[in-house]
Amino acid sequence: MGSEKTANVRMDVDLMGADELQDPSITASKLLSGERACLYEKFDPPFYILSRYDDVNSALLDADTYVEGFGNGPNFQPALGILSDAPHHTFIRNLVQRDFLAKPISDLQPRLEEIVGELLDAVSQKETWDLHDELSFPLPVIIICEILGIPTDDIKKFKGWADASVAAMCAEDPTEYIAQLTEMNIYILEQLHLKRKAGNGTDLLSVMALARDDGDYLPDEELVALAGQLFVAGNETTTSLISNLVWRLLTVGDLWSDFCRGEIDVDDAINESLRFDPPLLGLFKTTSRDVEVGDVLIPANTKVMMHYGAANRDPEAFPEPNVFKLKRTGKKMLSFSVGLHVCIGRELAKLEARVTLNALRERFPTLRLVNDGERVGPFLFWGRARLPVTHR
Ligand code: HEM
Repeated sequence: MGSEKTANVRMDVDLMGADELQDPSITASKLLSGERACLYEKFDPPFYILSRYDDVNSALLDADTYVEGFGNGPNFQPALGILSDAPHHTFIRNLVQRDFLAKPISDLQPRLEEIVGELLDAVSQKETWDLHDELSFPLPVIIICEILGIPTDDIKKFKGWADASVAAMCAEDPTEYIAQLTEMNIYILEQLHLKRKAGNGTDLLSVMALARDDGDYLPDEELVALAGQLFVAGNETTTSLISNLVWRLLTVGDLWSDFCRGEIDVDDAINESLRFDPPLLGLFKTTSRDVEVGDVLIPANTKVMMHYGAANRDPEAFPEPNVFKLKRTGKKMLSFSVGLHVCIGRELAKLEARVTLNALRERFPTLRLVNDGERVGPFLFWGRARLPVTHR
């Protein structure tokens, strides 16, 4: 290829192929053995993938070159809500982050313990039950609804909307999901208007509904997008963190028994699960200018996938990257991203996982898998859509 900067097409990487969907570590090892930037042409529009830890980390820290404002999926979307760049992003992030700071999150612990207790009561007499449907899915939905101040009585409807949102984010043709997303947006808008009418709520949706920019309320379209982002961002991901972690503890060696005997620190387990099984395998930024990565030139206005799943398996960053190892030192996994857009809900997600795992080990030390269930659908996500278990 000489000294000319070229696009490196790895024909064998197939993010949506059956093998790589079932085991994303296959993608990671292909990417890590290729050029530092890989052009992926099996999607329309084609995009580039960064896989090395240092490349992903430095791209995430360079918000001028790798911008957010065209959405975090492979499709180009208008900048709305928190999926935007400074100064708009700074304003929006400041508006919503008060409920995600360390103190308000740790104050949620008793409530989380109560919800988990109720969910476990409901399955305690069952022969087998589904860890996804009956525990790891409802918990994050209930708590984010309580933070936002919206009723939790129609959890199945929310599930349908959340599924449609993540499917749309990963689809070549997101318009397929327009009917369900419109229904979700109408519901959120009604809730926002109720909050504005009441005028004195303290929940997060009220704060958003009553916020002003230059004296005016924020536009409906903006608020609806933001509320949808908050609702969707923390659900599928936290659900997957909990299911992935239980799945590994129940399948790797005697980890579950060690964990129940108190020999494993729950935070070590959470961190290693996030590294080994990132609930989001990657998200996208868009280049604001031409960028050279190694021998590859990525043109301006191109989507680039930050492959957290590969970066977390980079042997330059993590010794024995393909081993699930509970005591790790060294680099920080990238599953929550880094930089200006670092996950706002990371403390909440970790607390939800901690509370759930502690309750499970206390109540069901005999827990075991019935089978491996099945993977969630959309290719950017990595979690169990079903995980049948028994504690009998
Ligand atoms: C294990 C669970 C979670 C994982 C793996 C995760 C992962 C991520 C990642 C990778 C990003 C992208 C950052 C970027 O664009 O560079 C992100 C952003 C975000 N996450 Fe999470 N997340 C989780 C839980 C949550 C929860 C519980 C919430 C609560 C609402 C949440 C809310 C958000 C929001 C609002 C953003 C956008 C931040 C911004 O652009 O400034 N996430 N998350």
